Amino acid sequence: MTILVTGGAGFIGSNFIIDWLEARDEPVINLDKLTYAGNLENLAGLRGDPRYAFFQGDIGDRGLIERLLEKHQPRAVINFAAESHVDRSIHGPGDFVQTNIVGTFNLLECVRAYFAAMDDSGRAAFRFLHVLTDEVYGSLPAGAPAFAETHRYEPNSPYSASKAASDHLVRAYHHTYGLPALTTNCSNNYGPYQFPEKLIPLMIVNALAGERLPVYGDGMQIRDWLYVSDHCAAIRRVLDAGRPGETYNIGGWNEKPNLDIVRAIVGLLDELRPRSDGKSYGGQIAYVADRPGHDRRYAIDAGKIERELGWRPAETFTSGIRKTVLWYLDHPDWIANVRSGAYRDWLEKNYADRSR
Ligand code: NAD
Ligand code: TYD
Repeated sequence: MTILVTGGAGFIGSNFIIDWLEARDEPVINLDKLTYAGNLENLAGLRGDPRYAFFQGDIGDRGLIERLLEKHQPRAVINFAAESHVDRSIHGPGDFVQTNIVGTFNLLECVRAYFAAMDDSGRAAFRFLHVLTDEVYGSLPAGAPAFAETHRYEPNSPYSASKAASDHLVRAYHHTYGLPALTTNCSNNYGPYQFPEKLIPLMIVNALAGERLPVYGDGMQIRDWLYVSDHCAAIRRVLDAGRPGETYNIGGWNEKPNLDIVRAIVGLLDELRPRSDGKSYGGQIAYVADRPGHDRRYAIDAGKIERELGWRPAETFTSGIRKTVLWYLDHPDWIANVRSGAYRDWLEKNYADRSR
């Protein structure tokens, strides 16, 4: 038995593979294109582990996917591979259409042929799990109930639109071809190995570098925050016991405005790594121009996965954010490596014109 993970060199995918091999002995094949977001250092602890194999490639490369499926005969495919950052999708939506929609389509075509050629017992056991986001549901008005699985898709950014499109394809492949597909819509993840383009690692890394902490708009946009290992446990649970054709929302029951997140990070850094001048990192907070089309609020109702599959997050925001800050404090070399020239170019592109 083997599973195929796509996008396993990214933030959530690498956490998923590490957690998987801690929890089980079943081998993992990792297919990743190694875009700017893919980092094999995340998986350095698995070097020499016979249960793990890495292949560099694109989910849109049908020849490669066909060969991998044929050779390794996975009993499940878990699709993390994506362009994942909203701000980058605003600057350049093309890659999002290419990987998230066309890439998922090509992957589905390969998996459909592979599934069709299986015997009955192989087909009964096989699963395709598609990792999605709460952002496909659009922006939630203040006071409205959290997103349930039945909420209609109303994506507002090129990123969320491309993810929604990919999920429509997954749904159609289940309905039309009987592919045993599962979709998980999760909220904002945080934890070790997250690339510092996203809010939490960006704030930690900028604070430590003595740079400004750029809060978009009024900082009162709300997200639900999910510690990454809780997300990984939920995916394992859905893979084991989820009903094909179903969607499961995964969230941390941690709705918070961005400013609260930034202040929590500031508080932890003031405690754990005080500035040499004795001042608070809070002095580095800078309100900058807002993101175009910025969704005001996301909130996840994770009641279905709790009731049907018995999953609940283990971390509170207080415990998860402390672990996360400690991880970044303990990994200065990882931070130094990802703050490469290309990363500097991105900061210049996204933040240079935002001063207010
Ligand atoms: P990430 O950007 O850190 O990693 C994405 C990975 O996919 C990278 O390793 C990259 O090299 C790889 N990749 C990109 N294009 C590829 C292609 N064409 N073929 C093969 N590999 C490719 O993203 P993440 O934060 O780990 O997110 C993983 C998945 O979870 C994504 O599908 C994302 O939409 C979804 N998601 C993320 C969050 C979050 O908070 N990070 C929340 C909800 C859903
Ligand atoms: P992000 O981590 O990019 O995730 P997403 O847009 O997918 O929710 O952003 C989380 C929130 O933080 C979002 O409301 C935008 C905001 N944000 C900032 O205020 N400043 C920043 O520099 C970044 C990257 C995000």
